[in-house]
Amino acid sequence: MADFKRTLITAALPYANGEIHLGHLAGAYLPADVYARFLRLRGEDVLFICGTDEYGVPITLTAERKGITPKELVDRNYASIRSSFEAFGMTFDNFSQTSRAIHTETSQAFFLDLHGRGLLKQKTSEQFYSPAQDRFLADRYIEGTCPKCRKVGARGDQCEACGSSLNPTSLIDPHSVIDNSPLEKRETVHWYLPLDEWQPALQEWLGKHPDWKENVLNYCNGWFKDGLQPRAATRDLHWGVPVPLPDHDGKVFYVWFDAPIGYISATREWAIAQGDPEAWRGWWQSEDTRLIHFIGKDNIVFHAIMFPGMLMHHSEDWVLPDNVPANEFLNLEGEKLSTSRGYAVWLPEYLDTFSADTLRYTLARTLPETRDTDFSWKGLQARNDNELGNNFGNLINRVLTFAHKYFDGKVPAWTDDDLTDLDCAALDEVAACMDRWEGHLATFEIRAAVEDAFAAGQTGNRYFDESAPFRTRKDDLERCGVSIAVALQILRQICVMMTPIVPFAMEKVWGWLGMETDLHFGGLEEGRRPLPAGRSLGKQEILFPRLEDEVIEAQIERLKSL
Ligand code: MF3
Ligand code: ZN
Repeated sequence: MADFKRTLITAALPYANGEIHLGHLAGAYLPADVYARFLRLRGEDVLFICGTDEYGVPITLTAERKGITPKELVDRNYASIRSSFEAFGMTFDNFSQTSRAIHTETSQAFFLDLHGRGLLKQKTSEQFYSPAQDRFLADRYIEGTCPKCRKVGARGDQCEACGSSLNPTSLIDPHSVIDNSPLEKRETVHWYLPLDEWQPALQEWLGKHPDWKENVLNYCNGWFKDGLQPRAATRDLHWGVPVPLPDHDGKVFYVWFDAPIGYISATREWAIAQGDPEAWRGWWQSEDTRLIHFIGKDNIVFHAIMFPGMLMHHSEDWVLPDNVPANEFLNLEGEKLSTSRGYAVWLPEYLDTFSADTLRYTLARTLPETRDTDFSWKGLQARNDNELGNNFGNLINRVLTFAHKYFDGKVPAWTDDDLTDLDCAALDEVAACMDRWEGHLATFEIRAAVEDAFAAGQTGNRYFDESAPFRTRKDDLERCGVSIAVALQILRQICVMMTPIVPFAMEKVWGWLGMETDLHFGGLEEGRRPLPAGRSLGKQEILFPRLEDEVIEAQIERLKSL
């Protein structure tokens, strides 16, 4: 790989407006964590940043509905998202919140840098204002009578009855969907990011990244073709980062302006916690740093266009994303997820009954890397029982059982001269799987990397059957010992390959094999070295218990009832 010294990995900041569901995990979080763990296994310098995105109108509305303040709401959701992420095995170096003071300060300074050099454009527009609620309303919170078909109940952006797309100011009898209060038009002034003016620079920069995923490049080229439009950086709201200018009372940053800056704020917060407040600069303002944004496809415009544009036009030199490996969407039992209908599988509830590893593995096998994919409960059961259990678990179990039963729980003695063609072929095959695995992960092809690990497991099982230690132990214990040593060596490589995918189970295997390097740092080399003869092995336990039909059926029924 190229001449960079460190990799800054970000995963989209989830809205603190509810729990994490499987769609979020498949879109951004699992790939980001697998990639971060992979780079750490290679001994690379990695910083993995995330946090909750805590502004925006939907959060205010949820808080009102619950009768609490927005800050109370986001703090609660932050705590719960943080703990379910942890139980899922996410290895963030910092998980922050955009409502913290460090983010207010960082995003305001960023805004002032652009504004101070005259790069932001001011525009006056007419927007609907609710005197009763003392606030301006976003289009989707405005309802009225459709000017085309005269039906009541048309939304500010669209009439569902006749399908016309609307401009809120054309509605007859406009009122708020929140409390039905009547609305009046008022003039308001906002600051805009001139993406139209920034388009040539953005296009030139993106032209240097032909290696990006096709889906991401296609979206970007589509927007370039239509011509980028200026995007608001400010809004008339009470909940948000205040615009740091005189005469801007009641104005805050548009949530998509401040949220990506949250990655920087969270890095600064991390640096302060390290006792080295300036350490964030090495991650954001150094040419030998690589920045990778993991996101779902609905975030592409913000991470591949808007935020790079902001970084590029700031007066300091910032690292621009080296890649934005966005995923498509995950469907659920053949249907689109719908959070408003509750049609989703929520992480905390999943974790009440099932293991994080089973979900990580199943999702890793079906990530929507190039197109939308489907999650099904029967699929999860099959992946758990037939793949984790019968392929990986079985191999781990039979090899370790054998070593304990016939070799005193130690790696049997062996030398290179003892190796037969069969032994060498198996070791070569697994080493080749591992090379492919490494290449795939380096290019964000996580599904393919899991297939490589799976193939290594199959090789291991086939080797065990063919070298037949269960026969040789009766008449040639030495040969039997070599087979077990070879199988242990294969296990060790599989353990490394599976560590980013099923870290909880592999942490145990890592211990049973007495692997010396830190599992979380630089373990890849360890996986390639042969296991020393005589090393004591830990006693194994069942890693991937089978899933009962009843528990799976119960989940399917729950979704059907929605
Ligand atoms: N909260 C947004 C979402 O869930 C993602 C924000 S990513 C950031 O779609 F870069 F803006 F922070
Ligand atoms: Zn209509």
